[in-house]
Amino acid sequence: MKATAEACANQGLIKYWGKTDEKLRLPTNDSISCCLEALRTRTTVEFSERYATDSFVLNGTPTQDPRVVGHLDLMRSLGGSRLKARVESRNGFPASAGYASSASGFAALTLAGATALGLGLSEAELSRLARRGSGSASRSIPGGFAELVAGADDAHTFARGLAGPDDLDFRTVVVTVGAEAKKVSSREGMRITAETSPLFPARIGYLPGMLAAMRSALAKKEAARVAHLAETDTMNMHACMITSEPPLLYWAPGTIEVIRAVASFRDEGVVGYVSIDAGQNVFVNTTSRHAGTLEERLRSLPGVSQVLLSRPGGPARTTDEHLF
Ligand code: PMV
Repeated sequence: MKATAEACANQGLIKYWGKTDEKLRLPTNDSISCCLEALRTRTTVEFSERYATDSFVLNGTPTQDPRVVGHLDLMRSLGGSRLKARVESRNGFPASAGYASSASGFAALTLAGATALGLGLSEAELSRLARRGSGSASRSIPGGFAELVAGADDAHTFARGLAGPDDLDFRTVVVTVGAEAKKVSSREGMRITAETSPLFPARIGYLPGMLAAMRSALAKKEAARVAHLAETDTMNMHACMITSEPPLLYWAPGTIEVIRAVASFRDEGVVGYVSIDAGQNVFVNTTSRHAGTLEERLRSLPGVSQVLLSRPGGPARTTDEHLF
């Protein structure tokens, strides 16, 4: 009972920040994302009587992660199995890139685990299950440009594809300004913001219009407009984070350096827009025409430690190339 799966990380384009149910990870708002081909995780899961306990090795290091064991428990309960599992997971991007990879990690774990147990789940069911590990992981199941719909309950809250990875001429320069782990987790951060930021209710009111604009830009394949809307939403979400009590300032000096540089490149006709999730690193979204110039210019900024150019990534998929 062994299976291996690969999934891409994704960036929020219209971001999810706030939950109505912490245990089920039901988000307050719909969100739209783009998978990143350059940020992939491969995971092998084997359930067997040979294992007395669950084990998890991440990038070659034995790791204790209660969220992984909790997710295995959830899958075992669906499959009526009591077998323990060996899990090995490897990120196909440098650990120093500073990406926590919970989206790619839980999407790959879900697909590999569900396949190993023979659960026979549909894409929507896999997405729902991945959501229980990490909200954004649900969007890495369909891949491409995906929308996580905030339904009223578990059954109605899963992601579906809005556009395939090659439908838009969209590129992302993944810019690392520091590999420091974030001090406040997304889970804790979104709770604090929803409870304390006076701007959060305004965000909830503004989101339906932004989501409609993003769906329309994706349907019309307007890559630059998609990138622009994602920057607008980034600033809105971070305004809510910064005005939380205590304030959540995820940005580092290098983050601001990149934001300013991207705006000045735009004044010179190099089209790029920033997108920042809950951390200091920056996604610079653009089209294939400007991607090379942006990559080169961003690499030369003093505060930037690493730059990766990515196309949009595809859906989570199984593979026979097992890690053990
Ligand atoms: O998947 P989580 O629970 O780590 O939440 C991630 C939320 C953001 O990345 C900040 C935004 C988003 O929509 O991906």
